[in-house]
This record gives sequence, structure tokens and C-alpha cells, in this order.
Amino acid sequence: MSPRCWEGPRIRGFHLFQTVGRIKRGSAPLRSGFSLHQHHNKMSQKSTLVVFGATGSQGGSVIRAVQESADLAAQYRVRGVCRDTNKPRAKLLAETGVEVVSASLNAVEDIRRALEGADAVFLVTDYPGNNCDGNLETRQGKNVADVAREIGVKHLIFSSLPSILQATSGAVLNGHEFDAKARIEDYIRQLDLPATFVHAGFYMELFAPGQLLKPATGESGTESWAISLPIPTDCAVLPLIDIIDYGKMVRAALIRREAFLGKSLYAAQAYYSPAQIASIVTAVKGTPCAVKELSDEEFLALRPRSGLSTRERQEEQLFMYHWMRDYGYYGGAPLDGNHEVIREPLQTFEGFVKTSTAFS
Ligand SMILES: NC(=O)c1ccc[n+]([C@@H]2O[C@H](COP(=O)([O-])OP(=O)(O)OC[C@H]3O[C@@H](n4cnc5c(N)ncnc54)[C@H](OP(=O)(O)O)[C@@H]3O)[C@@H](O)[C@H]2O)c1
Repeated sequence: MSPRCWEGPRIRGFHLFQTVGRIKRGSAPLRSGFSLHQHHNKMSQKSTLVVFGATGSQGGSVIRAVQESADLAAQYRVRGVCRDTNKPRAKLLAETGVEVVSASLNAVEDIRRALEGADAVFLVTDYPGNNCDGNLETRQGKNVADVAREIGVKHLIFSSLPSILQATSGAVLNGHEFDAKARIEDYIRQLDLPATFVHAGFYMELFAPGQLLKPATGESGTESWAISLPIPTDCAVLPLIDIIDYGKMVRAALIRREAFLGKSLYAAQAYYSPAQIASIVTAVKGTPCAVKELSDEEFLALRPRSGLSTRERQEEQLFMYHWMRDYGYYGGAPLDGNHEVIREPLQTFEGFVKTSTAFS
């Protein structure tokens, strides 16, 4: 029988996140996969960092973090990949000096073109939610891994997630969004590519108004919000990350490449329960926020958010919450040690609510 909720975070209190394996303290920052000799031989030529999903949340935060680092900005020219280079976000990126190129992750020739001359690559794959099929995503990741191997990429940083299928010994079959990425990670490891895996936590942005924070009517008709999820309200199983901090984790992996090769980093600031999230929102914004634990039936009956409109997708989402509740989002991995990855503190949910324009 499943426990009421995964006990890890509650036993250990709030955890920062963890790296798998030992991290060498005080190891010299690496400027790239190239030796200094090669670097100087390239004269003023910079190395090339290719960032997939450049106009999206993760890729965008990676580019921003790299641009904020004087060392990395001096070391890398950034090539940002998306499909539509005419989008305003793509044009804005180009104005900041990013070479924005169009390529589909579903076309090997596009990938080959996008990776031409690449020294380092950040890869985030696309999970096409409504299809409820991770095979396309897995193919995207394998294609990039194959081309990276072909051209000898020195550092591949992949936005991965744990395998639900493995952790549940095959009991949960529809954790596609995680399993597709876990299969890619396995493949990259099999190819023995120089890689780091940065597992993205649950975006704090998802708890902004209009997302999982729904408008509700207060007792006297005053404004209020509600969070309704199919997990116990006091279970601290949601590993939240401000997406801006995701890029900082990737930046740390780029800077200390050797220390993080082969490692998995868990990009989350801390675990939160729905009740904690609600009380932070109430305290910071002064607007009451209620929490409710939904039964499975209630969750499935919800009108799915736009773009996530199929019943199958809603079932998949339900299982994702069960996974978090029963096993932990990161499969029960202990979450401490993010201070070993980056020295600056990650954004707390309270800080996010105070500063995010989504709440203004
Ligand atoms: N939301 C969460 O809490 C969470 C947590 C962990 C992991 N994730 C994972 O994060 C991934 C999504 O990343 P995100 O949040 O950064 O997405 P996003 O904000 O929706 O951005 C997607 C980016 O990828 C590009 N893109 C989409 N499909 C593409 C394709 N077929 N070929 C080339 N480029 C493509 C998009 O640009 P164009 O549209 O111009 O191509 C855009 O730049 C998903 O795999 C999801 O499972 C999400």
C-alpha cells in the first residue's frame, strides 16, 4: 500500500538539492573542454555553446545565466535554437548577440546544422503533452546525442528527469514526460558522452495566478485564490525552482565542467507542500489562498488547462502527482548539497512571490 505521502522531505525538513556523486571541492574552474593551449591557438575565436529551446523557459534562462557571467560570455559565443526565429522573443535574443537559428529537434539534418562547430550543448527536449507518447521526445534526444558524438562535443548538458518506470518496477506506465527523458539520459550514458544531467524541478511559475493558483470567491465576495491538487495539502513533495535559477545551475556545470561530468544535479530550491505555498501567497500578497486535496475523480473531472486538453493527458498528470506523493519527484533522492553546485542561495518561493511580475 502506498504511504500517505513520501516521507523523505518531512523527516529531513526542507532540503536543498543534491548532486549525485562526490564533487571535488576547490577544483579549478574550467574555461571549456579545450585546453588553454588549444584555446590560445584559436586566438580570439570563442568556443560555441548551442542552446536548444532558446526562446523557452529553460533555454532562455541558460542563455541569460551565461550572458551574466563575464567568464562564460568571454569564452562562448552562444547559438540559440528554436523553430521560429521570427517570434519576438527570438528577435530580442538576437539583439543581445545570440546567433538565433531555426532547427527542428525532429529533423536530424537540422540538428546537424545547428550543432556545426559546437563545443558545448544545452539540450532541452520537447514533450508533446497531448500525444501522451514519449517516443518522439526520446528520438529527439537520441538524435542530438548521436550528432554530438559524431562531431565530438566536449560537454552535453541535458535537461533530464528520473525514470518512473524503473522506480516503480514497471507499475506506472504513463510517466512519459519523465521516462522519455530518463531514456535519453541512459542513452547518453551508454554512448559515454561527456555529459551532465540537470533535472528541472517544478517551476515556481506554475503557482502564479491563472496557473495552479486559481481565482476563487472569498466569503464576503472579496478576491481570493485556491490551490487544488490530488496530493495531501501538508505533503511537502513539490520541489520548486524559479526558472531563472535553472540557468544558474547549468552555468555552474559549464564553469566546473570536470567536477560535474557524469553527475545529475537536482534543480530545485526546496520541497514545498500545497499548504506552505498557499500560506506564503497569503502572507506576501494579503490575499487569502485556500488549499484543497482533490480526489482522483475530482482531478480527472477538472476541465484541463488549455493545451492539456485530453483525458489521457489528465490521467497522466494525475499519475505524476501520485508519483510525487508516493515516491518523491526525484525518486526519493536526498536533497541537500546544492550549495556545492552554486554558492549563491536559490530563489525561495516567498522571494518569487515578492518579485515576480506574474503576481503584480
Ligand atoms: N513545467 C515544469 O515544471 C517542468 C519541469 C521539469 C521539466 N519540464 C520539461 O521542460 C520541457 C519544456 O521546456 P521549457 O519549459 O523551457 O519549454 P517552453 O518554455 O515551452 O519552450 C520550448 C522551447 O523549445 C523550442 N521547441 C519546441 N519544440 C521544438 C522542436 N520540435 N524543435 C526545436 N525546438 C523546439 C521552442 O521554440 P519554437 O516554438 O520556436 O520551436 C522554445 O524555444 C518539457 O520537456 C518539460 O517536460 C518542465
